[in-house]
Amino acid sequence: EREKADTIARIKKLLKEKNAVLVAHYYTDPEIQALAEETGGCVSDSLEMARFGANHAAETLIVAGVKFMGETAKILTPHKTVLMPTLEATCSLDIGCPIEEFSAFCDAHPDRTVVVYANTSAAVKARADWVVTSSIALDIVDHLDAEGEKILWAPDQHLGNYIQKQTGADMLMWQGACVVHDEFKTKALEDLKKVYPEAAILVHPESPAAVVELADAVGSTSQLIKASQELPNDTFIVATDRGIFYKMQQLSPHKHFIEAPTAGNGATCRSCAHCPWMAMNGLVAIADALEHGGKAHEIHVDPALGERAMQPLTRMLNFKK
Ligand code: 13P
Ligand code: SF4
Repeated sequence: EREKADTIARIKKLLKEKNAVLVAHYYTDPEIQALAEETGGCVSDSLEMARFGANHAAETLIVAGVKFMGETAKILTPHKTVLMPTLEATCSLDIGCPIEEFSAFCDAHPDRTVVVYANTSAAVKARADWVVTSSIALDIVDHLDAEGEKILWAPDQHLGNYIQKQTGADMLMWQGACVVHDEFKTKALEDLKKVYPEAAILVHPESPAAVVELADAVGSTSQLIKASQELPNDTFIVATDRGIFYKMQQLSPHKHFIEAPTAGNGATCRSCAHCPWMAMNGLVAIADALEHGGKAHEIHVDPALGERAMQPLTRMLNFKK
């Protein structure tokens, strides 16, 4: 505890010295989220992380999350220094959508508008017409569909299928998945709901379709947090990374939040509902990143690639302010 307090004090001092701000995702450790709030940084979903980093006056952004979030920040503000606690924190969606194969997929379907999820590399974004996050994907695809566009969607198949069902848009789908959300189990969730019949079920749309079908609310992390505040229920079963409980509990201290089951037998698997890459973010690593920067912590994006990737990202940010 003493060491933790020292590290937190060190981070606060470094944030000031380096004119830096901490931008954290809801899936990071509660202590990181609390520190971001306390120091005037932000804790949010991937869309608001991008917006906050782009609009903030700080010269240095320290992004606690996974690599695509740091890359997005760098693409949007190439003149800023963007640091991450570790550059090893990736995402199964990013890994599952390598640029060579993706590019060939796009080339094979030149008549389609390319819409990619933010959980992708800078190179994949540079090949896209639109970047979307889960909180804005539905609106953007709806808009494109109304304009008569046919869509090539990548990489998350579950989010894609959900949006396809909601909008009726013509979407050709890349078959990627999130290792965390793909694990939520339908039968076990139905069983858990029988134990808590009064509970509302909140589901992130990266989860399989059968799990999404059981939901009372479906949405991005920020949309699920909002639903946890607005729905009248006292109990919630939540199908997304358990990092989100920190904010839900903080906003509704008297409500009861339960993890949706990830193991088929109904037991909650402690290591499943938490992203292994989000878990790589720690206080010591944040302090080291701020102090040393450099190879192990600084995000670099090829400037020409970044310039191309900035266009579909800016399109997203301007779509709905
Ligand atoms: P959102 O916070 O945008 O809902 O994204 C979820 C996610 O998977 C981030 O890794
Ligand atoms: Fe990627 Fe899933 Fe982890 Fe989000 S929770 S960073 S989508 S692997």
